[in-house]
This record gives sequence, structure tokens and C-alpha cells, in this order.
Amino acid sequence: MKIAIIGGGPAGLYSAILLKKQRPEAEITVYERNRADDTFGFGVVFSDATLDNFEKYDPASYRRITQEFAYWDDIAVHFRGTVHRVGGNGFCGCSRRRLLLILQERARELGVTLLFEADIDDEARFADADLVVLADGINSRFRDKYIGHFQPEVDVRSNMFAWMGSSRPLDAFTFIFQETEWGPFIAHAYQYEVGRSTWIFETDPATFRRAGLEGLSERQSADRMAGIFGWFLDGHQLLINRSMWRNFPMIRSKRWVKDNMVLLGDAKATAHFSIGSGTKLAMEDAIALADAMQHAPTVDAALQQYEEGRREEVEKTQHAADVSLVWFEHVDRFWDFDPVQFAFGVMTRAKAITYDNLTLRAPDFVAEVDKAFAKQVRAQGHDVDVGKPVAPMFQPLRLREMTLANRAVVSPMCMYSAKEGVPGDFHLVHYGSRAIGGAGLIVTEMTCVSRDARITPGCTGLWNDEQEAAWRRIVDFVHANSAAKIGLQLGHAGRKGATKLMWDGMDRPLEEGGWDVLSASPIPYFPDSQVPREMDRAARDTVKAAFVAAAVRGERCGFDMLELHCAHGYLLASFISPLTNQRSDEYGGSLEGRLRFPLEVFEALRAMWPAHKPMSVRISATDWAEGGITGDDAVHIARAFAEAGVDLVDVSTGQTVRDAQPVYGRMFQTPFSEQVRNEARVATMCVGNITTSDQVNTILAAGRADLVALGRKHLVDPAFTLKAAAWYGAAAVFCPQQYLPGKEQIFRNSVRDRQDLEDLKIKAKPKTRAELKAEATKPLAAE
Ligand SMILES: Cc1cc2nc3c(=O)[nH]c(=O)nc-3n(C[C@H](O)[C@H](O)[C@H](O)COP(=O)(O)OP(=O)(O)OC[C@H]3O[C@@H](n4cnc5c(N)ncnc54)[C@H](O)[C@@H]3O)c2cc1C
Ligand SMILES: Cc1cc2nc3c(=O)[nH]c(=O)nc-3n(C[C@H](O)[C@H](O)[C@H](O)COP(=O)(O)O)c2cc1C
Repeated sequence: MKIAIIGGGPAGLYSAILLKKQRPEAEITVYERNRADDTFGFGVVFSDATLDNFEKYDPASYRRITQEFAYWDDIAVHFRGTVHRVGGNGFCGCSRRRLLLILQERARELGVTLLFEADIDDEARFADADLVVLADGINSRFRDKYIGHFQPEVDVRSNMFAWMGSSRPLDAFTFIFQETEWGPFIAHAYQYEVGRSTWIFETDPATFRRAGLEGLSERQSADRMAGIFGWFLDGHQLLINRSMWRNFPMIRSKRWVKDNMVLLGDAKATAHFSIGSGTKLAMEDAIALADAMQHAPTVDAALQQYEEGRREEVEKTQHAADVSLVWFEHVDRFWDFDPVQFAFGVMTRAKAITYDNLTLRAPDFVAEVDKAFAKQVRAQGHDVDVGKPVAPMFQPLRLREMTLANRAVVSPMCMYSAKEGVPGDFHLVHYGSRAIGGAGLIVTEMTCVSRDARITPGCTGLWNDEQEAAWRRIVDFVHANSAAKIGLQLGHAGRKGATKLMWDGMDRPLEEGGWDVLSASPIPYFPDSQVPREMDRAARDTVKAAFVAAAVRGERCGFDMLELHCAHGYLLASFISPLTNQRSDEYGGSLEGRLRFPLEVFEALRAMWPAHKPMSVRISATDWAEGGITGDDAVHIARAFAEAGVDLVDVSTGQTVRDAQPVYGRMFQTPFSEQVRNEARVATMCVGNITTSDQVNTILAAGRADLVALGRKHLVDPAFTLKAAAWYGAAAVFCPQQYLPGKEQIFRNSVRDRQDLEDLKIKAKPKTRAELKAEATKPLAAE
């Protein structure tokens, strides 16, 4: 077999090694345009988990790599004169040049041919090769040559960065967030060998310009950075090696394989440097390719297997890198945070590290985070314990005169079980049991303001006395038997009205018994859905009056809060999104015009809803569709409602148009809540695939939301909050007296369960390489 590999970076060299080990008879050549020891950059970083992988696949190179590496365990965050350190991270660094020399040496030993100063511009010369590996890096010539086939998507990020080095010793992966007269600068730094550390500097484009970095030579810009970070560099120089300022391109390719050619490493996909995974991805691609070549019967089948098997893992890493890079791009959102909360945000930005997992590794740090959170709550006038605070989830929140006992919320969930809009016994038990289960706030399902405002025939409503009495029974039960507050969500289905019950076909039009539907513009949801009537003045007045009348009834029922549903493509949302609003009058056009009717409704409600009771608005913070609402629009929308008197923005997303492309994942909507909260400076509730109290605490402690709503989780776990309270020892959680024996038991057992789990986790966790190295070099204690 003949294999040609274009590019002698980590992906090219490691694939050559693994393929040659597997097929000693194969003729494998690596073509590299640079000289053998000619390499840009300084150090690379790997996690312990990545090293375990290398050990499994090629112990010989693994041993050499680990002999050369610098290990460390801590992450240190420097911000506004403070430093917070967290251990147990297990990282190691090595010079990129050393890594490549080790891989070259190993490849040669195995019999791979390495040709340097071989710049390949045409793969035709490899016509007789069975496999051509395209490992030619981030600016891949071959990916671009077959752009129509590989279909790369290149997202050039806004921040500027430069990769430099220093002789400054470091004992932790170090982040320095530095205020300057021009704006914020960030340094990501780590040591990779004795006397050498990597320094990546990052800043936003405006700060870059203001700092006069444009047009400076590499040396001049290094001197400018040394001036900014001099207090930390402690007299050490900054080193340069092709250290020009650039923008990071986030690359994703739709296809990775063309005939017998395959893209590997940065050529196919990149991951932002802030999670240090570029070299890991490149070398793990090589592992995946070698695995596929080992097991598949033909090269074609192997390449297909590589692409299918590897994609999910790569996309997961890219997603984590995306989340991380967005955090760094928007660091100004957190600039006025308490430093410990800021550090907690840095640690937890990419979702892998959480509140519970930090509690295990750095209990003192989390205790400080809890105290800072409790102090903020106390500053808002709550008499909470700051010395020994409860976890953030169990801290109270006040909105106007409504005080919530904790931050867990039952998200509005349509039950499709009302008869002519009247909630029945099912609803009483449903809401009642979740209130008894300890949630701080319950928001009702979308309750429709008139018969023809319903989504389905099973939706609840609040336009007649019978409905009002039924809702009052539920509200009274919640107030009499729990500490929960209950909010009423009012809505109008708009063009998604007159559709089937969820289990009969979500959003599908009713075949019989339907009613006429309204929207901002006459655009049907499905091509075969009813064409909605474009709302005129009279229709708008009627709908607004229906909202007000329903809210008057809601107030008589005793609801504690009113939420206006302006999300998910329903009537008011259809005005806000440009995808569903194509009006040419003053209710369309700009965002200001599109917000006009929803704001008129909101203002009419705010005027009648008692001043001591809060109001929230639910929005879709993105349509997940080209030309639709974006996170930046959501900030404007939130500001407009805040000016009109909203107390809380319930940040959901999507469901506006059928061809949306949502990116799902754990806590997938939380970044939008974070953006709205910290840019529009309004309290937010986040929601969306949040399923654990650990996630709730992580989100709250990092300042990404003020309340956390859980929908589906609450459907199967009404006592979610009570159980979480037992786990975190939040004894003040409400429990009805009838259930007290159960509360006592779960609180008692939780202490033991928690201890057992922590012991198990600590026992099961292998020592990090840094710990092993520290043990090995520890002097023996004197007898
Ligand atoms: C600022 C910065 C910091 C980073 N920090 C880290 C980190 O800490 N940890 C980490 O793991 N990763 C890090 N990375 C990422 C890492 O450098 C890359 O992801 C990794 O090197 C990708 O490996 P590769 O083999 O795919 O590509 P490369 O390492 O780019 O190798 C491609 C090779 O192909 C050669 N080549 C290109 N075209 C041709 C051609 N036509 N003919 C012949 N040869 C060709 C190039 O000369 C090059 O040697 C960082 C990246 C940046 C930009
Ligand atoms: C069956 C079902 C019914 C829902 N009904 C409503 C509703 O009436 N009003 C609303 O604003 N959101 C509604 N949603 C959205 C949820 O409130 C929530 O935002 C969504 O389920 C994501 O959160 P989760 O992952 O915690 O379930 C509904 C979701 C589901 C699955």
C-alpha cells in the first residue's frame, strides 16, 4: 500500500506513525514544505485524558513526549488585583518544536519517509497512492482547491490574538484579565518547558486599534504587551516567532473525504485556542483514521467510517471551543463582576467544569463563590446568612413585592388537557404537586386570552367565569399548601392556532373544528397550514382588550406574577421576527416598528396589573434562522420591555419558522440569557435542557441568569427542588407538614449519599500526572 501525507504537523506525522505501525509493508511518505526543525509558535497543551489516549496508541512516542513535558494542575485567574486558583485539572505542556521532533524521530524509526522543503501544489503526482492524507493545516490549499466538494464554512472571529513566548516561569495555566486605558486585554499563558512559557494575547478589535497595535512590527507589539503585562512578567522578556496579530478562523467542513483523499487536523476543522484542543484534535483524528484503516475492508470504507465515526466527537469539541471563545469575545459583559464570580465564570465557561465538580476539587473557592453570591442577595435587602450561605439555587429573589424562596422555576408547559379552556383536576394535581415539590415559582402553561387565541382545543384559557373559578382553585391551592409563587402566562397562538394536540401532531392544522387565525402577516406556518389574516387596527384593538380582560381575571384569581408570551412564533412573536412580519405599516419594518404592537399590549397590561406585582416577558432570543432574530436583537428587545416596566425576561429561543437550525445541547439557550442579562442589565430566567441542580447552581453562580426554569425535568420529577435542597443541605426549603418524615429521611440520607459519592469519585479518579510527579520528587520524610 502506498500512502502520501501532505503536511508534517501533528496530524500528518502522527497518522504516519500509526499507519506505519499497522502496515509495516506500506510505503508512507510525509511531504512538508518547511525544514525539519522549522516551526512556528511556542508550546502546546494536552490534558491528562489526551495523554492516556497517546499511551494506548503509541507507547514509544508517548514516553518520549511525557519525558519532555511540563505538568501542572492548577488554573489561576488574575483579575482586578486578585488571583483565584483551582487545582485538579491535569494539564501538561510541551514545546511544539520538541513535539514535532519526537514525532519525526519516531516516524523515521518505523520507516516512514519524511521529505522536507517539499511544497505540494498538486495531488496529481500521487495518482498511484492508495490513500492521500491532507494534513496541510488551517490554510489548507487542498481544502480550498476542492471547496465545492468539502464545503468548508469559515467563521472569522472578531477578536485579535497573537502567539508569543516568555522565559517567565509559571506554575499554573494562567489567565490574566487586564484593564488598560484602551480596553481589556487577556493573556492565556502556560509553561511548556523549563524557562519557557507560551503567551497568547487577545483583545477586541476596538481595543486593538485604540492601543495603536495596528501596523506595529512583531517586536514593537511584543514591547507594547510587555508594557501592559510587565507587572506580571517580572523582568522577563516576551519572545516572538511569527507572532503577528490575527483573527481566529473557526472552520467546519461539510465533507472530509473526496475519493481517496481525506482531511485531517486543522485542515478539516479548528477549535479555538482558549480550550487548547487543536493539537489534541489533530492527533486524535490520526488515531480515528488509523482505527478505521485497521477495521474496514477497503480504503473507501475506512474513510467513510472515519468521517462518520469521528464527526460527533469533533463537533462536540468545537461546540465547547465556540462557547469558550464567545465568552472571551464578550468578557466586557462580566467586567464589573465580583472577582470571585468572574473567576467562577472563567472556569465554568465551556460547560465541562461545574459547581459540583469544583466543590470536590476546590471547596474553599466554591465557598467563596457562595459567599459572594449571598452578599449580593443581602445587598438586595434579604436577611440571608453570608457566613455560611446556602447554594445559589436556594437564595431568595425579590421582583417588586414578590419574594421567591429559591431560584428553581417550573417552566410553562402546555398540558393540552383543558376542556373549552377550563383547567380541570389534572391541572390542579399537576400544578399543586410541583408547588409542594418545592419550586420557588410556577409559571402556568400558555393561557389563551380568547377562544380563537388557543393553539389547540386542549389549551387553557381565561376569558370566562368558569375558567376564572378553575384557575382560582389552583392558585388558592398553591398558596395554601406551599411556599411557591405562581405566575400566569398569557398568550395568543397567532398563525400557530387551530392546530392539533401535541400527541396528535404538533403545529399541524386541525382537520375539523378549527377557527380563523391571525398573524402579523399572511404567511402560513406549514405550506398546508391556514393562511392567517393580517391584523388590522380593529383586530389589534380586540386582541389587546382580550389580553387586558384576561389579566383582570388573573389578578382576581390571585396570581403573583404575569408573563406575556412573546416567543415561539405565536401572535406577538410573529410581530417581532422579520421572518414572520413583512408589514409595510408602522407595525413592521425596523425592530422598533416590529416591537410596537407587543409593547402596546405589554403597556396596557402593565397599566392594569397591580404595581406591587411583577411582570415578565418570554422572548425567542434567536430564530436560529438566516435573517431572523439574533442575540443582539434580543438585547434591544429586552431593553425595550425593561423601559416599559418588565421585571424579568424569560429567555427562550426559536420555534418561529419551520426551517430553523437550532444547535441543541446541555443548557443550550443559556448563552442568550447571559447576553441579555449582562448587556441589557435586566433580570433573566433561562431555560432549555437544564436537568440538574448542579447546572442550576453553575448558571446562577456564574451570573448567567437570575432564575432557572426547568420544563421537561419537572414533568417527571415534581419534587426536583426538595431533593436538590436535601443534596445541598438547604434545610429551609418548604415541605408540607404532611411530608415532613420524608423530608427528614432524605436530608439524613443525602449527607451520607453525598459523602459516599465524593469518596467514590476521589477514589476512582486517577492521580493527575502533576500529582504523580510531585509525589515522585517529594523528599522522604525524616524518620
Ligand atoms: C495561537 C494558537 C495557540 C494554540 N495553542 C494550542 C495549544 O495550546 N494546544 C494545542 O493543542 N493546540 C494549540 N493550537 C492549535 C495547533 O497549533 C493546531 O491546531 C495544530 O497544530 C493542528 O495540527 P495540524 O497537523 O492539523 O496542522 P499544522 O500544525 O498547521 O501542520 C500543517 C503542516 O502542513 C504544512 N503544509 C501546509 N501546506 C503544505 C503544502 N502545500 N505542502 C507541504 N506541506 C504543507 C505546514 O507547513 C505545516 O507544518 C494553537 C493554535 C494557535 C493559532
Ligand atoms: C410539551 C411542551 C409544552 C410546552 N408548553 C409551553 C407553553 O405553554 N408556554 C411556553 O412558553 N413554553 C412552553 N414550552 C416550552 C417550555 O417551557 C421550555 O421552554 C422547553 O421545554 C425547554 O425547556 P426544558 O428543556 O427544560 O424542557 C413547552 C414545551 C413542551 C415540551
